[in-house]
Amino acid sequence: MDDKTDPPAAEDVLRVEGITKAFGPIKVLRGVDLHLAPGEVLGVVGSNGAGKSTLVKIITGYQPPDQGQLYVEGEPVDLHSVQDARSHGIETVFQDLALVDELSVYHNLFLNREVTSGGRFRFLNNRRMRADAMRYLEEIQVDIPSVDLPVEKLSGGQRQAIAVARATRREDVKILLLDEPLAAMGAKEAKLIIDLVKSLARNRGVSMLVIDHNYTHIFELCDRVNVVEQGRITLDKRTADTSLAELTEFMVSSYRQQVEGASA
Ligand SMILES: Nc1ncnc2c1ncn2[C@@H]1O[C@H](COP(=O)(O)OP(=O)(O)O)[C@@H](O)[C@H]1O
Ligand SMILES: [Mg+2]
Repeated sequence: MDDKTDPPAAEDVLRVEGITKAFGPIKVLRGVDLHLAPGEVLGVVGSNGAGKSTLVKIITGYQPPDQGQLYVEGEPVDLHSVQDARSHGIETVFQDLALVDELSVYHNLFLNREVTSGGRFRFLNNRRMRADAMRYLEEIQVDIPSVDLPVEKLSGGQRQAIAVARATRREDVKILLLDEPLAAMGAKEAKLIIDLVKSLARNRGVSMLVIDHNYTHIFELCDRVNVVEQGRITLDKRTADTSLAELTEFMVSSYRQQVEGASA
C-alpha cells in the first residue's frame, strides 16, 4: 500500500533513496526512500523488527546499505563510519545513551571532544569546559541541579537530555537521529525531552528523525510521520493531515494484511 505526499525537494537536508539491507536470507530493508527538511521533526513508526534501527544505523554510518544512496544537502555521501557521518553533520543518540555514569555532566558533554589548551603541555581545560557546559545548557534550557554531578545521580529524563545536548553541541550539527529516546520514561520525563527536541529543531534548525512506539508522542513531537512495514515506507503524512485514530487504523490494517499474507 502506498500513501505518499511531498516528493523529495532540493532543499532537503537528508534524502535516502532505494536503501536495501539483508542479513543473510532476511531482507530487512527493501528499498527505503525518505526525506527530511531543515528543522523538520520526522517520526518513524513500525512494528518490532520492521527495520527501523537498521535504517538509523545506516544513516549514522554504523553499517553500510547493500544498495541505495544517501544525500546530505543534495550531495551524495557514502558513510564508512560514525565519525564519517558526524563529519557530514549527522549525530545519533543511541538507545544505550553512551554516557559515562561516573563522570560529571560537563565531562560527559565534552566526552571525546575535550577542550585542550596550552602549547607543549596540552591539558584538559576543566574550567573552560565547565563554563561552556553551563552556558550551553542554559541556552538550550536544560535544567539540572549542577554540571558537577556525576550523570548517574540524574533522573532518566535528565540523562537523556544530556545525551541529546551532547549530540547537538557542535554548531554544525544538521541531523539528529533518536532511536526510541522516550522508552521507559514517565510522562513528565518524556515531556522534558519532547520540549528539548522541539526547541532544538525550531531554534537551531536541527532536523530530527525520531523512532517511537507511542503515537501520542509522535503527534506531540513530529511534523511528519513515516510508517515502515516489511522493509518499505508505506505511509508518509504530515501529522497535521492525519490523526491518532487514522494512524492506528492504518497500522492495524497493515498488520492484518501481513498476518493474512503469512497464512495464505
Ligand atoms: N546485525 C544483524 N544481524 C542479523 N540480523 C539483524 C541484525 N540487525 C538486525 N537484524 C534483524 O533485522 C530485523 C530488523 O531489526 P531492527 O532494525 O532492529 O528492527 P526495529 O528497530 O524496527 O525493531 C530483525 O529481524 C533483526 O533480527
Ligand atoms: Mg529498534
